[in-house]
Amino acid sequence: MNIGLLGFGVVGRGVYDILAGRDDIRVRTVLCRRDLGALTCAATRDMQDILDDPGIDTVVEVMGGLEPAYAYVSAALAAGKHVVTSNKQLLCRYYKELTALAKANGVTLRGTAAVGGGIPWLTNLEKAARVNRISSVGGILNGTTNFIMDAMHKGDVEFGDVLRRAQELGYAEADPSADIDGWDIQRKLIISASVAFGVCLREEDVPVFGIRSVSAADIRRFRQRGYTCKLIARAERLEDSVAAYVEPTLLAAGALESAVPANFNLVSMEGEYMGRQSFYGQGAGRYPTAYNVVQDLMDIAGGKAGFYTDSFAPCETNNAGALHRYYVRTTAACPELDAAAQEDWDGAVVTLPVSVAHMHALLPRLLEADPESFIAAVQGGGRDAEGC
Ligand SMILES: NC(=O)c1ccc[n+]([C@@H]2O[C@H](COP(=O)([O-])OP(=O)(O)OC[C@H]3O[C@@H](n4cnc5c(N)ncnc54)[C@H](OP(=O)(O)O)[C@@H]3O)[C@@H](O)[C@H]2O)c1
Repeated sequence: MNIGLLGFGVVGRGVYDILAGRDDIRVRTVLCRRDLGALTCAATRDMQDILDDPGIDTVVEVMGGLEPAYAYVSAALAAGKHVVTSNKQLLCRYYKELTALAKANGVTLRGTAAVGGGIPWLTNLEKAARVNRISSVGGILNGTTNFIMDAMHKGDVEFGDVLRRAQELGYAEADPSADIDGWDIQRKLIISASVAFGVCLREEDVPVFGIRSVSAADIRRFRQRGYTCKLIARAERLEDSVAAYVEPTLLAAGALESAVPANFNLVSMEGEYMGRQSFYGQGAGRYPTAYNVVQDLMDIAGGKAGFYTDSFAPCETNNAGALHRYYVRTTAACPELDAAAQEDWDGAVVTLPVSVAHMHALLPRLLEADPESFIAAVQGGGRDAEGC
């Protein structure tokens, strides 16, 4: 197998390193925008060189972003080359189109590293979905936010201070919005739901609330009551729709997610025969992510054909039936919130069960009046509860 490697950053360099010295899979050409120094393969700044090279049978896209990644991946598939990508943005937006293109050209499209970095999540989800009906997927799918929440529970520290530490350690980007506002985990959830349920969800239909406004005082309230707060993505298959959302969630001490430390991920699926299965590991980083890219290459080299799913049933996102109690800390006046209030947690409200759709519809109003407002779904029963 001969590779055209698009991108030579964190993941691209990792793929190059892991493949160094192998005879079965070789990087033949790297696409780059700047001088990369001495390489054991060719380098080009022109994608056409890779497309026109009949010796390159597989393209690895690890550039990121939508364009030119979409144009390059589409051209590679159309040219009859297999594609492996780690690009969640690309797969989330164009999964259906790229799958159709791969199918039309009889080539394989894989993107295991796009969700869960080094965790073999999509490959196992694909296997599970071919034998049982998957009823739900989700969990902790972003290492940056887990690092921040874990540090805030371990020490009495404010969000901004932990974020700066995460940036110094390389766990958070200079612009951390995609992570802390939940967009990264939303994309991973949408790709997972596509594979699990054979549906195509639209980004604009999956509501997201991140952790930007969580405070040390919020965490003190949670800890006093035996809860751990994590940013959780969840998608659930309903009769003829899917419930899907991303929100901070308070978990009982016994929940598996509560124990996930530092920048690790924990992602779970539930199926009719297998019950719950959870996968834990490094959701990002050079070598964990490159490891899954190389696993996809090995699968293709071993003859694996196709993609994770090829049937995309039309499907609505419907969060009206997903009911949670919510912790809400806000100074905004909101009669609907007052009507739903059940408990007072030192000045913050915990509501009766309300729908995810209703709470996320209230959020813009709360945030407009008080941009520091914070909400979290309450799962399980806190200190004395069993794991949930
Ligand atoms: N890093 C992780 O841990 C991780 C984990 C899971 C998934 N991913 C995904 O993997 C992808 C790559 O991430 P990364 O962290 O490796 O990014 P990165 O370090 O920023 O590397 C991107 C590489 O692509 C190159 N590139 C970008 N646009 C290009 C273009 N138009 N033509 C040629 N080269 C181009 C960049 O070149 P320059 O150096 O010239 O800018 C750089 O070498 C992203 O989709 C990301 O979401 C990353």
